[in-house]
Amino acid sequence: MGEFAQRYGPVAVVTGASSGIGRSFATQLAGRGLDVVLVARRRDRLHALAEELRGTYGVHASALPVDLADPAAAGEILDAVASLDVGLLVSNAGFGVKGTFDEGDAGSLSAMLMVNCQAPTQLAHGLAPRLRQRGRGGVLFTSSVEGLVGCPYSAGYSATKAYVNALGEALWAELAPAGVDVLTLCPGATDTEAPRLQGVDPTTLQDLMSPDDVARSALEHLRDGPTHIPSAHYRQLFDTLLAMPRRDALTAMARSMGE
Ligand SMILES: NC(=O)c1ccc[n+]([C@@H]2O[C@H](COP(=O)([O-])OP(=O)(O)OC[C@H]3O[C@@H](n4cnc5c(N)ncnc54)[C@H](OP(=O)(O)O)[C@@H]3O)[C@@H](O)[C@H]2O)c1
Repeated sequence: MGEFAQRYGPVAVVTGASSGIGRSFATQLAGRGLDVVLVARRRDRLHALAEELRGTYGVHASALPVDLADPAAAGEILDAVASLDVGLLVSNAGFGVKGTFDEGDAGSLSAMLMVNCQAPTQLAHGLAPRLRQRGRGGVLFTSSVEGLVGCPYSAGYSATKAYVNALGEALWAELAPAGVDVLTLCPGATDTEAPRLQGVDPTTLQDLMSPDDVARSALEHLRDGPTHIPSAHYRQLFDTLLAMPRRDALTAMARSMGE
């Protein structure tokens, strides 16, 4: 067994595994010899991926279809993995709502808070004591560069990711003495279904990364928390924005995001 699997195995729970960055995480973790529990809503995709990972890598892979917008979802997942030796939580599922805040749908905002904030919090809360007791393992949260500063025309999403950043940073410090690594991943534009679901043409986005590259970079930096921005372009862009007077940064962003 490799060093990675010894530290974070034998079992990883990956949310949002049915597509995009989560699918890449699940595949790369299986490639590193970890058993994986695949969580998302689209059952067919989860079962197909589980079968593919079992066949390709000879690991245990199971599908756990759950709607994370349901308040009972985290409890269901924790119950389902209660008898497994989970060494890594990849809390990656999430979605965004773009546009003028007050014109957005209240129900979508509510679901976004559940999926992007409530589910990661409850999953980390349920699994952290077990990781602490083992004295090794990790928690990886997929956040976004949009969590680094309030993003106009993405207000609710940006706020959910600021929450994830704060949660991840705090847990990094709480769990480090116990030998548990916490990393908050802040991707920039990534070529997944997400931009299209938000009505954005991915080809118009700057410095688009592939989900495989984003997941690989995060796994390579799992011990380098608290946060990791995989794209050099977005690292530099947000360094510049955060160094500006806040009003100037927000006005410039509102101008470019409102276009
Ligand atoms: N793509 C980007 O440019 C970008 C940039 C920064 C951060 N991110 C973050 O990266 C993460 C992964 O997104 P992605 O880009 O890979 O997009 P994606 O391809 O749309 O994947 C999103 C995943 O989350 C799952 N999900 C969404 N709502 C869910 C729900 N109610 N219950 C259970 N699972 C749910 C989806 O599965 P089902 O639909 O099957 O449920 C899917 O597996 C998200 O947290 C996103 O905010 C993305």
